[in-house]
Amino acid sequence: MVILEIGVYRGGSLEMWRKFFGPQCEIIGVDINPLCKRFEDEKTKIFIGSQDDREFLRELKSEISKFDILIDDGGHMMDQLRITFEELYDCVAEDGVYLVEDLHTCYWPAYEGGYKRKNSFIAPNPFGATNSPTISCLPL
Ligand SMILES: C[S@@+](CC[C@H](N)C(=O)[O-])C[C@H]1O[C@@H](n2cnc3c(N)ncnc32)[C@H](O)[C@@H]1O
Repeated sequence: MVILEIGVYRGGSLEMWRKFFGPQCEIIGVDINPLCKRFEDEKTKIFIGSQDDREFLRELKSEISKFDILIDDGGHMMDQLRITFEELYDCVAEDGVYLVEDLHTCYWPAYEGGYKRKNSFIAPNPFGATNSPTISCLPL
């Protein structure tokens, strides 16, 4: 089992995944804050970089090619959500899960969101494109 979480903060969720999935689970954390490196251990790897930096995400992909679960709990800005999805969605295993937290920001202008706004991550045509995937959201 390989889990990638974007957004480490104080390590709380990494600790929860470790307890839930057990010692064999490989956990990868991504954060822009270098201090998050302190949560690294034998089975937990932390990458420092920004989720809207395509080059950084491609480097990450070259090291870890498949995830069973990807959780995006990073900056929650529309470009960050979109770029991360565009770069990493194809790394999620076929029976895996791509999870995005706090999607209410898709309706908040301060996060570049807004109801039916073209660039919103949740929209009838996400990213304003006609051939983009349909994104289904289940409130948890
Ligand atoms: C909501 S907190 C994460 C909380 C954590 N997942 C938990 O539940 O304990 C958001 C984190 O995203 C990080 N972040 C903000 N912008 C980012 C970016 N562009 N790329 C990567 N991480 C970012 C912040 O530094 C912060 O640690």
